[in-house]
Amino acid sequence: MTTAPATYWERLWHDGRRYRKVTGAETTLLARHLGPGRGRPALDIGSGDGALARHLHHQLGYRTTGVDCAPTAVALAAAEDVEDVEDESGPAWRLMDFTSDDLGKLPEPAYAAVTCRLVYRWVDDKPAFLDRVRHVLAPGGILWVVTELAERREDTDPLKKLGITAADVEFLTAGWSVVRTADLDLLRCYALRL
Ligand SMILES: C[S@@+](CC[C@H](N)C(=O)[O-])C[C@H]1O[C@@H](n2cnc3c(N)ncnc32)[C@H](O)[C@@H]1O
Repeated sequence: MTTAPATYWERLWHDGRRYRKVTGAETTLLARHLGPGRGRPALDIGSGDGALARHLHHQLGYRTTGVDCAPTAVALAAAEDVEDVEDESGPAWRLMDFTSDDLGKLPEPAYAAVTCRLVYRWVDDKPAFLDRVRHVLAPGGILWVVTELAERREDTDPLKKLGITAADVEFLTAGWSVVRTADLDLLRCYALRL
């Protein structure tokens, strides 16, 4: 990606582009790998319309923050939360480029769980991104990454570019104390414990 993430993604959200819905199979895996939040903080990076962050917050019991670099996505997430649950406070939303903004803008210094769904593929500098994730993870915390794998599509498939490469996988999964994976059709979920 040569354009700044905020410019690239804001145009897509503003033009009405929407992304693959979070399914029941995915939330079952999420619950199995992350466990109950019990009020601990969670951070969803690239939260989009906020569906995953709301699930972490309302169903799993994490005190959740969703960050996204696209103003339209953050506005959508905040608006849906108000409509859905009026008697309960929802996740905190922040307009933020996680790759470059001051991490001090986050409401919590450390998170028990960091999630990143359909975002990692689009991060240009993956080593720097993972350094920043490790910086905000609490000791023993978990990074949950959901991504397509390029190898699951034929070379001729124009959507192959939506997946991460074998080299990306190797880098993503290096240096964690525990690495677990779970598969969902074209998607793979990674639970990476610090
Ligand atoms: C393909 S969408 C996925 C949205 C959501 N996670 C979902 O699963 O529906 C990627 C999202 O990541 C956000 N994003 C990409 N790069 C980002 C960055 N550097 N900092 C914050 N958000 C980012 C985009 O604005 C977009 O909302």
